[in-house]
Amino acid sequence: MNVVLVGFMASGKSSVGKRVARRLGYSFLDTDHFIEAELGCTISEIFAIQGEPYFRMLETRLLQNLPRLENHVIATGGGIVTTPGNMELLKRIGVVVFLNAEREDIISRLERDTRRPMVQGGDLRERVTTLLDKRLPLYREADVIVNTAGCSVNQTASEVLRQVARRLPELPLHATSRGARTRRGTRTDAAAPAESP
Ligand code: S3P
Repeated sequence: MNVVLVGFMASGKSSVGKRVARRLGYSFLDTDHFIEAELGCTISEIFAIQGEPYFRMLETRLLQNLPRLENHVIATGGGIVTTPGNMELLKRIGVVVFLNAEREDIISRLERDTRRPMVQGGDLRERVTTLLDKRLPLYREADVIVNTAGCSVNQTASEVLRQVARRLPELPLHATSRGARTRRGTRTDAAAPAESP
């Protein structure tokens, strides 16, 4: 069983994904990092040298070639849903969760970003709005939608776990209630500080 996170850039997929993975005792995989490690260069370099279509091909190839993963939380690049067929591939890998962040939060988090080629140059608000409008219907095809507005990483992770547990009764149950007590009587995650996504 795996959990797959989709959503726009800067919606918190990596930070929430790592937290969910930790609470479940699962491994964490980030598709962008996987591609960067495989090619030995950054996403920006791939976009600059080979172009976006090549990067999209790499994303799809990764989804097709992922070994039979078990017990992973997978954070995906924000544009992965734009390639036809990828949502079906993602759903075969695991329960697909859309982290639905507010547009204004996304814009303010991306203001100083230099690593994401899709939002470099031009007017950031316009770029985000255009991409988000196009992508929202695609994200909404996910199995589960979690709204992140006003929530810390921990709160969002708890909501992801709660919603996924409704679909997967086999989920390690202790992980779904934040602050649940371990056998030693200590709290599992309550003391973890909130992170910005
Ligand atoms: C992209 C999002 C990025 C990365 C690439 C393209 C997009 O991932 O895959 O820069 O098209 O939205 P994050 O969503 O992790 O920023």
